[in-house]
Order: sequence, then C-alpha cells, then structure tokens
Amino acid sequence: MTVTAVVGAQWGDEAKGKIVDVHCQDAAIVARFNGGDNAGHTVVNRYGVFKLRLTPNGFYNPKTICVIGPGVVINLATLIAEIEMIQKSGIDLVGRLWVSPRCHVIMPYHPMLESVYEEAKGSGRTGTTRRGIGPVYADKVSYNGIRLVDLANETVFAEKLRVQLALKNPIFQAFGQETLNMDAVLQEKNRQFARIRGVVREPFGLLQAALVKGDNILLEGAQAALLDNVWGTYPYVTASNTLAGGAAAGLGLAPRWIDRVIGVTKAYTTRVGAGPMPTELLDQNGQVLLNEGQEFGTVTGRPRRCGWFDAALVRFTAQLNGMTELVLTKLDVLDTLPVLKICVGYRSNLDLQRIWEYWEGDARWLDTIEPVYVEIEGWQQSTRLVRDFSHLPMQAQAYVRRIEQLVGVRISMVSVGPDREEIIPVS
Ligand code: IMP
Repeated sequence: MTVTAVVGAQWGDEAKGKIVDVHCQDAAIVARFNGGDNAGHTVVNRYGVFKLRLTPNGFYNPKTICVIGPGVVINLATLIAEIEMIQKSGIDLVGRLWVSPRCHVIMPYHPMLESVYEEAKGSGRTGTTRRGIGPVYADKVSYNGIRLVDLANETVFAEKLRVQLALKNPIFQAFGQETLNMDAVLQEKNRQFARIRGVVREPFGLLQAALVKGDNILLEGAQAALLDNVWGTYPYVTASNTLAGGAAAGLGLAPRWIDRVIGVTKAYTTRVGAGPMPTELLDQNGQVLLNEGQEFGTVTGRPRRCGWFDAALVRFTAQLNGMTELVLTKLDVLDTLPVLKICVGYRSNLDLQRIWEYWEGDARWLDTIEPVYVEIEGWQQSTRLVRDFSHLPMQAQAYVRRIEQLVGVRISMVSVGPDREEIIPVS
C-alpha cells in the first residue's frame, strides 16, 4: 500500500494533472484536499477531452473512488457541470463520487466581495482568479461559512443566509454595487443542492477503512507550494494550504500515513497573477517559454509570467513538503534555447557577502533581491520522442542532474510533452 501526495513545487500549473493521471491507474481512491474551482486541468482519454476544476483525477477508472475532502470549497454550478459532462460521456461517476458535507460553499457574494477587495487595492491587487476563493475561506475561518451540510436543511440554510446577506449587502451598497436578493439566492442554491444531494456524504470512514485495508490512495493537491497561504509569497497567494501537510488537515488523514510525496515542477518557472518572481524573464527567452510552453491560464486565459528554473525556490518547497521525489515537466519547452540558466540563490543588499535563501524574507524583500545563476549549455534538438533517459542529449541529461543536485531530491520522471506517454523514467 502507498499513500501518495502529488503537490505543486512552484506557483501552480506544473502539469500535476498529468502526473496524477500517470499514478492513479492503480489507486483505489483519489482525493482532493484543498482549493476549489480556481484550479484547472485538462484530461484527455478515450472518452473525450475533460476540462476539470473540482473533480479528482481517476474519475474515468470504474474501480477508483473520487473524494472531495472537507478542505475543498465548492462552487455548486461547477460541480454540477462537471458531473453532468462526465456522466454524459458514459462514465458512471455518481456512484463513485464522495463530497464531504463539511465542504464550504461558494456563495454569489464571495466573488462579488473579491472584486471589491481587488479593485480597492488597485495596482497592489493579488490578481486572483475571481472565483471567490479568498472570501469563502475567510468566512470559513471567521465562523461565517455556509457548508454543504447547512444546505441539506432548508431552515438552517435560510437563517444563515439571512445573517450573511445582512452583513454583506451593506458593503455592496457602500461600493455602489447591486445587492443580493435573499429569495433568489435561496432558490438557486436549493435547486443546485437538490441536484448533487446524492454525492454529499462524508468520506472519512471510507478513507480510514482503505488505510486499514492497505489500498493505494492518491492525494491530489491543487495550486502549489508558493501559493500556500502561510509559506507562499503572502499576500500574493491563494487561501488554502497547498502543501503535503495540508492533505492531512484537508482530509482528516493522519500525517503518518503519507509515505510518498511527489513534487511536480516545470523545467523552468511560471506564475500567474501578481507577486515576486525573481527569475522572471521580460526578454526574448521569456517569449520562447510563453509560446513553446503555451503558457496561458486554464481558468482565466491570462498569459503566464515565465522565467528560468529557480532551484533555490524548489529546494525550499521540497523541504516544506518533505518531497520523496521530484517530477520535472515540460523539458521539451527548452529544446530550442542555446543557453539555459538555473538560479542557485540570491544576492541581497542586506549582506552582499553571502548567498540568500528564498525563505529568509517576505514578498517585498523578494522583490529587491537579484538571482545568482549558473549557466548550462542548451541541447537545441527535439526531446519529444525520447522515452529512455540515456537517449536524451547529453546537455539535457546534465540539466536534469544539475537540478536534482541543487534541489537535493531525486528526480524520478521527466515529461517531454502533454500526452500520458510522453514520459521518461529516471533511475
Ligand atoms: P485565488 O486562488 O483565485 O484566490 O488566486 C490567488 C492567486 O493564486 C492568484 O495569483 C492566482 O493566479 C493564483 N492561482 C490560483 N489558482 C491557481 C492555479 O491553479 N494555478 C496557478 N495559479 C493559481
């Protein structure tokens, strides 16, 4: 038995979906533990193309149970659309999907509040996906949340909604926005809840039984380490705990069960939204990464910021997650570049005599530091068809090994294209 967590090692979009897909073939359970429909990945299989934001990977495997744990926040419209899309393709998901009644629900006022906050911050805004993620988690920790279990009881729900609208509508009024009508929200949410009622059931017992039985369980992280609410580049982060440790809290699964942590990192760096990014490239090389890597957001369509691989950053996130292995994705995106750079640490005006680590300061400090690079020769040939590590160009092998050495974690796999087969095992 293995309990494996798959987590993002950078700022998200590392192609975790593909790596979960590769590993979930023999999983009895695939479980999401954090985030909401701010995440997004595309799954291509014999049933079709699925663009998913909430449903865990493994939904197409009739033997796999899909769990959405209590650490996840639910947009009901998204969940309904995904269930219907999957059912329509001929896959029976409903019988295998378990959504915790403890999940908090994104209400119409959450994205509205987020817009108010983001506009008020002006150029200092976080650059969120505007799905209401920050405000729903804020309501959760301030005891103002509405959970699926509340929606199961119309009287309880109506009372909770009444209080929240009494608190929130005056804010919208103050900012010159339309207020929300209680009856309209009630009706919409009651109608939506009725459609998913059958999958709302607590997966805790199921998970505990699977642990005792020795089943393979895959914990699917959303977003990534540098977007973690505590350890990320706050306030340019997301609202949930994105680390392997968050899997324990988000699912009610004791940390001692997690025996394998796979960190997924691109062979370069990207980021969507605002916040520091020491290795960002605003030159021609950045354009190559953007175009070759097709770096546009799945949820928002925004072009991603691109830069060199930052080994100092990934070394930090490897420690945060206790990574047992690292998977390097999108190596092929570097195929045309004559020279590559890897950041090994930073120079700070606070003390120019030494190399600084990522975790030594906050987001504002990170904006003032200069990356220290090592240069590596590019390979300038396609790696797309390579399936054996020893057949990679020598320079590409050296690049992978250098990253492994700088991060301090074994690289178990290199990905050279979006398809499931475009994978090179590394020993
Ligand atoms: P939020 O999660 O929508 O509140 O957005 C907060 C920050 O996290 C913004 O910079 C988003 O661009 C970023 N973010 C949220 N989800 C993802 C993701 O799945 N991939 C990459 N960035 C994300």
